[in-house]
Amino acid sequence: MTLQHKRQLPFLLTSMGATLLAVATAMAAEPASRPAGAPNSAPAVDQHGLTIKDAYKNHFLIGMAGDLSGRYSDEELGLVKEHFDIVTPENCMKPAPIHPSQDAWRFERPDALVEWCADNNLAIFGHTLVWHAQTNDWFFRDGDKAAVTQRMKDHIGTLVGRYKGKIQGWDVVNEAINDGGNAETAQTENLRNSPWLRAMGPEFLTLAFKFAHEADPDAKLYYNDYGIEAGPKHASSMVLLKRLLKDGVPIHGVGIQGHWSTGRIPYVALDKAISDYASLGLEVSITELDVTIRGASGGQFGRGFRGRGFNVTPPSSEDLKAQADAYARLFSIFIKHKDVIPRVTFWGLSDRRTWRFGQHPLILDSNNQRKPAYAAIVDAVQQRRMD
Ligand code: XIL
Repeated sequence: MTLQHKRQLPFLLTSMGATLLAVATAMAAEPASRPAGAPNSAPAVDQHGLTIKDAYKNHFLIGMAGDLSGRYSDEELGLVKEHFDIVTPENCMKPAPIHPSQDAWRFERPDALVEWCADNNLAIFGHTLVWHAQTNDWFFRDGDKAAVTQRMKDHIGTLVGRYKGKIQGWDVVNEAINDGGNAETAQTENLRNSPWLRAMGPEFLTLAFKFAHEADPDAKLYYNDYGIEAGPKHASSMVLLKRLLKDGVPIHGVGIQGHWSTGRIPYVALDKAISDYASLGLEVSITELDVTIRGASGGQFGRGFRGRGFNVTPPSSEDLKAQADAYARLFSIFIKHKDVIPRVTFWGLSDRRTWRFGQHPLILDSNNQRKPAYAAIVDAVQQRRMD
């Protein structure tokens, strides 16, 4: 096995695991989340009231992530159109799937997504150009700084250029900051020891934004990460963003991913983090929102996979209520900051179509029904109007 194969193995296993799960789920006659004979503990939720995208139309766009439209049922595609304004490609535009080797591009699925969204009046936000995960080793192999820079430039120029004018913006750099940290690292950018950093130094961020801006001067360009709303990692994100802005980097926004877990959401820090980013003149989007009912938190690729349970225990009505309360509290923070938040995107479509399958993290259940969290989010904005 070559080094490259070894590096790709975790991703292969992850996608194999996800595929097996998807097949097993699709084959089950009844939703896996409700064992035969078990009482339906879910509180009744109105399935036909105001949709989330209409409820928030004067606030921000509501998004979902998915590699549309192949492999989605007509019912699921109907839900995307009914509830959402904007789509993030969940995987198909990431470096490994779209650009597996230097001379090979796989545009079939991304082109299909762009076409389907145009036909159905959905906007698109691109994800992601420069990341340490889901990126094949050819970008770095036997390359000095100049060679790797050229490969990055070609990758970004070709991809962003192809969809110029069709994609509203891009997560240009994803997850560049280390986890954890302490009082000392909080004073620094604390960059992750990624192959991009090793090959190009901290300038890799500057250049990625520059190349994306050259390829589409109208695209909104984002730095996207998880856990940057709190603690030393938040402080490091501020150090990094200030450096980029000082150097004149064309960056317009920060993406707070938002892979949280009910009962462990840093609400106060989040509220302050949004203000902090806005004070730099940046917009803020919530780019990958999901709130698990149980199981591991943390957004880094791989971690959630190992942490998620394969036993699909149905959520209790208390679980669903706690999740609804968490979502309502989050959206009340987003509403407060609506002037600087253009978009809130959920990472998936339903509790069947989520990378955290089994943890019931989204607002439509695995039967495509609105959950209590859905109703609570709509109520949060209506409540506000009555105040
Ligand atoms: C996840 C996808 O949802 C999975 O299907 C895939 O196997 C791994 O990546 N942070 C990100 C997203 O920026 O790209 C990740 O998406 C979730 C964590």
